[in-house]
Amino acid sequence: ILANQINEKGHLTIGGVDTVELAQKYGTPLVVYDVEQIRNQIRAFKKVFEKEKVAYAVSYASKAFACIAMYQVANEEGAYIDVVSAGELYTALKANFPTERISFHGNNKSLFEIEMAVKNHVGKIIIDNFHEIKLLDKVLREQDAKINVMLRITPGISAHTHEYDQTGQVDSKFGFDLESGQADLALEQVLANSRMNMVGIHAHIGSQIFELNGFEMAAKKLMEVAENWRSQYGYTAKVINVGGGFGIKYTAEDNPLKPEEFVQAIVETIKKEAKEAAFPVPEIDIEPGRSIVGPAGYNLYTTGSRKVVPGYRPYVTVDGGMGDNIRPALYGAKYETVLATDPKAPLTEHVRIAGKYCESGDILAEDQALPATKSGSLLAMLDAGAYGYSMASNYNRNPRPAVVFVENCKAKLVIKRESLEDLVHLDQSYED
Ligand code: LLP
Repeated sequence: ILANQINEKGHLTIGGVDTVELAQKYGTPLVVYDVEQIRNQIRAFKKVFEKEKVAYAVSYASKAFACIAMYQVANEEGAYIDVVSAGELYTALKANFPTERISFHGNNKSLFEIEMAVKNHVGKIIIDNFHEIKLLDKVLREQDAKINVMLRITPGISAHTHEYDQTGQVDSKFGFDLESGQADLALEQVLANSRMNMVGIHAHIGSQIFELNGFEMAAKKLMEVAENWRSQYGYTAKVINVGGGFGIKYTAEDNPLKPEEFVQAIVETIKKEAKEAAFPVPEIDIEPGRSIVGPAGYNLYTTGSRKVVPGYRPYVTVDGGMGDNIRPALYGAKYETVLATDPKAPLTEHVRIAGKYCESGDILAEDQALPATKSGSLLAMLDAGAYGYSMASNYNRNPRPAVVFVENCKAKLVIKRESLEDLVHLDQSYED
């Protein structure tokens, strides 16, 4: 929290708006984004490329948080976007996102999704497997269309992150394996297909990564593949996409570089490799998700019951939990939480922040130092903007929270709170 985020009442503000007012107006649990921070991060990434004078695309991995308003902001900032489902693509189309700046990802794209992507002329399809090459070929023939494609390879790099967040190791469900020659075979098939315009090579090693090394290795590997393909097939890749995964600081335990510092190292590595191999410097694409929306997002909760077992850390229960943020339960993810009405108050106790869901594992924080709270206190969980709402569920038939964008001292509701009526919206009666 920055000093200027605390107003004269001593309350936490976001984008110039008092969190107490936000909670009163929109209710809790509430997801709040500081839009300026989203814009600033996209700009910080772009600046690296502009400075290095290379062709580039900053492609927001929208799985981190997607809604019409988010796609509109990404568009205003001239970002590209990644989508991984018909649902994300549909939402982006509803936001009038320019389709030539959309990349379609996924390891099991359905026929319907591929048809939708081709019909809407998305900028690139990132091909993941042989099954997909067949489906895409069928769709392209049927629609008498052409499309830009990239091949996703598995670079054989294990990133130092949670096992669920690793994607680059050889034994991965994503992409074409290099060692066994599958990637070469995929290239042969794509080059032989006149409807597929092979623009480049993609790899993504994982998420919430802190070390430069993994990215440098991935960048090197991609350039090595590009070089091999040039000498073996006379094919020169125009685009190298190193994926996303730039780690962010969630708690004092984390000490990552700035996201744009990772990108700087990637650009330098690719330039150096290109120079050594006399390879034309390719366009460099990145796909950050978490680093664009994570630090910009806050979850506001109101406290309710409190349970104290003598000798143990108290349970302070909030009105949300694993339904709006499953990351602590799923990955053991840690966050920093503050008392929104007095973020700088002395921390007088260590508590567990428990959710309201019927599961012992629904603990948002195992050990959070807080000032004294009572029932009805407003808590703000920080850096919560990535993979929270986007992984939200209706477990226990709890409605999903509302989402508000704040910018220039103005708040705007961008996703309504689900109502009880919404929860039964799709249900059909079994009675005659
Ligand atoms: N590109 C590809 C191909 C990806 O699979 C991902 C994330 C990204 C880019 C963006 O990665 P980011 O910059 O956000 O780290 N639910 C997990 C994260 C899953 C990431 C999946 N892929 C979590 O909450 O930690």
